[in-house]
Amino acid sequence: MCQVHVVVLSLVILNFIIFSTNAQPFDYPIANLSNTWTNNPSIEHSVDFGDGSKVRSILLRGTFGPRFACGFYCNGNCTSFLFAIFIVQTNSASYITSPAIGFPQVVWSANRNNPVQENATLQLTENGDLVLRDVDGTLVWSTNTTGKSVVGLNMTEIGNLVLFDRSNKTVWQSFDHPTDSLVPGQSLLVGQKLTASVSSFNSTEGGLFSLSVTAEGLFAYIESNPSQIYYESRIGGTTTRYVKFMNGSIAFFKSTSAPNQPFSTVIRVPLASSAQYIKLVSDGHLKVFEWSSEWKEVADLLTGYLGNCKYPLVCGNYGICSDEQCGCPGITGNEQIYFRLINDRQPNDGCAAITPLSCETPQDHQLLDLEDVTYFYFPANITNTDIESCKQACLNNCSCKAALFQYGPNVSDGNCFLPSQLFSLMKNEKDKTHYNSSAFIKVQASQTEFVPPTSQTKSTSTGIILGSSLGAFSGLLLIISISVVLFRIKKAHDEKDEEYLDQVPGMPTRFTYEDLKVATGSFLKKLGQGGFGSVFEGTLVDGSNVAVKCLDGIGQVKKSFLAEVETIGSIHHVNLVRLVGFCADKSHRLLVYEYMSNGSLEKWIFNRNNESSLSWQTRRKIILDVAKGLTYLHEECRQKIFHLDIKPQNILLDDNFNAKVSDFGLSKLIDKDQSQVMTTMRGTRGYLAPEWLNSIITEKVDVYSFGVVVLEIVCGRKNLDYSQPEESMHLLSVLKRKAEEDRLFDMVDENSKDMLIHKKEAVEMIKIAVWCLQSDFTKRPSMSVVVKVIDGLMEVELNLDYTFSTTVTPTAMIQQEAKLGSSTPLLASVLSGPR
Ligand SMILES: *[C@@H]1O[C@H](CO)[C@@H](O)[C@H](O)[C@H]1NC(C)=O
Ligand SMILES: *[C@@H]1O[C@H](CO)[C@@H](O)[C@H](O)[C@H]1NC(C)=O
Ligand SMILES: *[C@@H]1O[C@H](CO)[C@@H](O)[C@H](O)[C@H]1NC(C)=O
Ligand SMILES: *[C@@H]1O[C@H](CO)[C@@H](O)[C@H](O)[C@H]1NC(C)=O
Ligand SMILES: *[C@@H]1O[C@H](CO)[C@@H](O)[C@H](O)[C@H]1NC(C)=O
Ligand SMILES: *[C@@H]1O[C@H](CO)[C@@H](O)[C@H](O)[C@H]1NC(C)=O
Ligand SMILES: *[C@@H]1O[C@H](CO)[C@@H](O)[C@H](O)[C@H]1NC(C)=O
Ligand SMILES: *[C@@H]1O[C@H](CO)[C@@H](O)[C@H](O)[C@H]1NC(C)=O
Ligand SMILES: *[C@@H]1O[C@H](CO)[C@@H](O)[C@H](O)[C@H]1NC(C)=O
Ligand SMILES: *[C@@H]1O[C@H](CO)[C@@H](O)[C@H](O)[C@H]1NC(C)=O
Ligand SMILES: *[C@@H]1O[C@H](CO)[C@@H](O)[C@H](O)[C@H]1NC(C)=O
Ligand SMILES: *[C@@H]1O[C@H](CO)[C@@H](O)[C@H](O)[C@H]1NC(C)=O
Repeated sequence: MCQVHVVVLSLVILNFIIFSTNAQPFDYPIANLSNTWTNNPSIEHSVDFGDGSKVRSILLRGTFGPRFACGFYCNGNCTSFLFAIFIVQTNSASYITSPAIGFPQVVWSANRNNPVQENATLQLTENGDLVLRDVDGTLVWSTNTTGKSVVGLNMTEIGNLVLFDRSNKTVWQSFDHPTDSLVPGQSLLVGQKLTASVSSFNSTEGGLFSLSVTAEGLFAYIESNPSQIYYESRIGGTTTRYVKFMNGSIAFFKSTSAPNQPFSTVIRVPLASSAQYIKLVSDGHLKVFEWSSEWKEVADLLTGYLGNCKYPLVCGNYGICSDEQCGCPGITGNEQIYFRLINDRQPNDGCAAITPLSCETPQDHQLLDLEDVTYFYFPANITNTDIESCKQACLNNCSCKAALFQYGPNVSDGNCFLPSQLFSLMKNEKDKTHYNSSAFIKVQASQTEFVPPTSQTKSTSTGIILGSSLGAFSGLLLIISISVVLFRIKKAHDEKDEEYLDQVPGMPTRFTYEDLKVATGSFLKKLGQGGFGSVFEGTLVDGSNVAVKCLDGIGQVKKSFLAEVETIGSIHHVNLVRLVGFCADKSHRLLVYEYMSNGSLEKWIFNRNNESSLSWQTRRKIILDVAKGLTYLHEECRQKIFHLDIKPQNILLDDNFNAKVSDFGLSKLIDKDQSQVMTTMRGTRGYLAPEWLNSIITEKVDVYSFGVVVLEIVCGRKNLDYSQPEESMHLLSVLKRKAEEDRLFDMVDENSKDMLIHKKEAVEMIKIAVWCLQSDFTKRPSMSVVVKVIDGLMEVELNLDYTFSTTVTPTAMIQQEAKLGSSTPLLASVLSGPR
């Protein structure tokens, strides 16, 4: 064997001598059968690097610049070696350059859990098996390809190591056995996963963090029993076949889409200007590295979605992450009774119980109450429960380490999670989640009631800034946003790029026109029709019912369509109609919404039919639901959203008469704390706040419209009803008159016996509406205050003005439109078509 080796080498050297003067490529990407390579400096392309690492390159493809090679690699200590694929820099003669110009980057290895020593051997046997043996001859790894007609080993251009047969067909490939990295062009099939290493120095599979593809989508896990998910991107409806790392994205490919066409983007990746690879690093971050005169981290892919605090070990076990700081539970002032930092200098190493939990003395278990703290993962063990039952369930089971509770809409329908292993907690950031949640951590009450804090631990009560990784984060965000902008600009120019539409977690699914044609039975059952198109009933492959809105005549919205879809799709709340998916296929633009079986509120409140009229409780619940949906839009989601077209037609009811607001997000998105001067009026006559006439638009225009809707619900008639005698045409004028006469109860819907029974409560509700209808928008309550008032937690403002402005008449509006120079009166958002 050794002789064969020497002959090959001398041929190689000969080649070099002959060709190097002409700067001919001098790569050696393919090996034939019956070859053995011994892991010592006798391997020709052995290079030592400045960081102490070494490569002994067996195959290398290409020349000039970053190139893929395979061979033995050690990371500094060089007592143990991997058989690995790495990216190295090469010169024009294809020699690996060292050491100053970038260290080798390992993207795959055969034996990460079983490193080998000096003089270990790699053998491509005459039977076509690739075998790695340690110096003592023990079998460390093999491709198990004996008898599979392998004729050679090929290091491909994109970094895949392939055993091929006589017809060049792949028999085995390294891409099928991913480790912790992905290179451009590489896919992760369903069932495959990346597993992070123990540390950046130790390539052993740590097993703690993994990124896995299943039929449902892409998931990042932290190992525990069972695994806990810290990132997910579900594809919904259809099954994933694989995800692929492409230039600019990680994309889903699904079984029903054309084989080589990405279905949607999962995560955006900065466009590659040179060699790039993605690595799941040992702290659970998914990072992109790129070559540009040295290897640099260019993106931290999951952090944009998770923030810094949602990584399971960001502050270690039991640590609490808040405002980029780590702390321990139960530290008040300088007293630490239950927990202390494991390492005062490294707050992100986590916290340890001062008295460890003992299952022998469960009577001493107590729960430490942490308000407004939440956890990255929440698979409820118990649903529809209250906080006390949740806490009790934890105290009753010794394996439970904490009771985590998410409040539901009322006290008795929260969710309870009882983890048996607790990673980092995080302070609930109001902006990022609408859950109000609490954590109760199990502690062992100490025998002696008071444990005096030691002087050493005193100083650490306030946590320490998480250091450079967070500082670097803002810079990264900039890079990411720049690349996103570039991506967008390109998209605007290139229709074809729409195929790569951004799919981010929780985002709506992209359907083909064909999918939706099938789902709706060729658009058979129409639910509604209006100016911009029609809405049809449909059923998706997974059996869920949907409403499909076809938008037509929208040539000019092409560009904004995707942006609007993205915004709307990222908003989730029980009182908002969910956008399930969309279609942007050639000229077709469709939106797919969850199906609401009881249709729009309009159908239910304006009919005079006693039988189907809604009870007081139902009406109250609907009002509360709408208020909660609007609270979320105005105050709780990442970007403040003004609906601008609240009316009964845009409030939909499910089979239990839960109300959800639809068609939100179609209006302009306005950054929080910034009202905006609008140049076009939006909305619907009868629901427009008076300030539309002077163009100072705040979220209070929605509060006004909400007030009109509340009044309509309680009174059972439209605000503008032209079938009434002139003095009663405008409900607000009637309200003004009745208020002066102190006869508000006359307003309550007379067509419902139940409403008349609840007249008193109904009048209170009218007062809430009046508060919302104040002409001076600064006097109107915010939607969260409205929720509190309905819930009985606050009182209605006493000093209310009943001289409603009725200036937003059709004439005034048309004059205003003319002033603003808009040709289309009441420009509704294109997306807010009919129901
Ligand atoms: C591998 O085998 C092929 C044909 O069998 C031959 O042309 C080629 O020169 C061999 N390569 C080496 C490096 O020996
Ligand atoms: C190098 O090896 C020595 C002895 O085997 C060990 O103590 C040291 O931690 C190792 N260093 C690294 C970076 O692996
Ligand atoms: C590796 O093998 C070479 C040649 O057989 C020998 O000279 C060298 O000492 C060996 N190295 C080790 C560490 O065993
Ligand atoms: C080869 O087979 C052995 C024994 O069945 C197995 O442990 C090993 O994982 C296989 N190697 C590969 C690369 O599949
Ligand atoms: C080796 O891989 C390259 C791609 O980098 C491919 O073009 C070539 O055909 C492969 N060679 C064989 C013999 O399979
Ligand atoms: C296999 O690939 C090599 C190199 O790409 C090419 O020269 C050869 O013709 C291919 N053989 C077959 C059977 O396709
Ligand atoms: C790498 O980590 C594994 C698992 O924790 C450990 O067993 C092994 O000793 C470590 N190797 C080195 C060189 O530190
Ligand atoms: C990635 O795409 C960008 C823009 O299309 C292009 O400039 C760049 O060369 C591509 N990178 C690679 C490695 O193909
Ligand atoms: C405690 O919880 C574990 C799961 O963590 C479960 O297997 C066990 O049955 C529970 N014990 C009791 C007494 O409920
Ligand atoms: C609260 O939830 C419980 C259980 O779902 C239900 O029975 C009860 O009617 C709800 N109360 C209110 C005020 O909605
Ligand atoms: C709660 O569920 C999680 C997984 O979903 C499980 O690990 C844990 O043991 C469960 N706790 C109890 C007390 O059953
Ligand atoms: C969370 O909800 C509970 C019950 O509704 C309430 O007592 C508590 O004040 C709320 N906390 C926050 C921060 O909103």
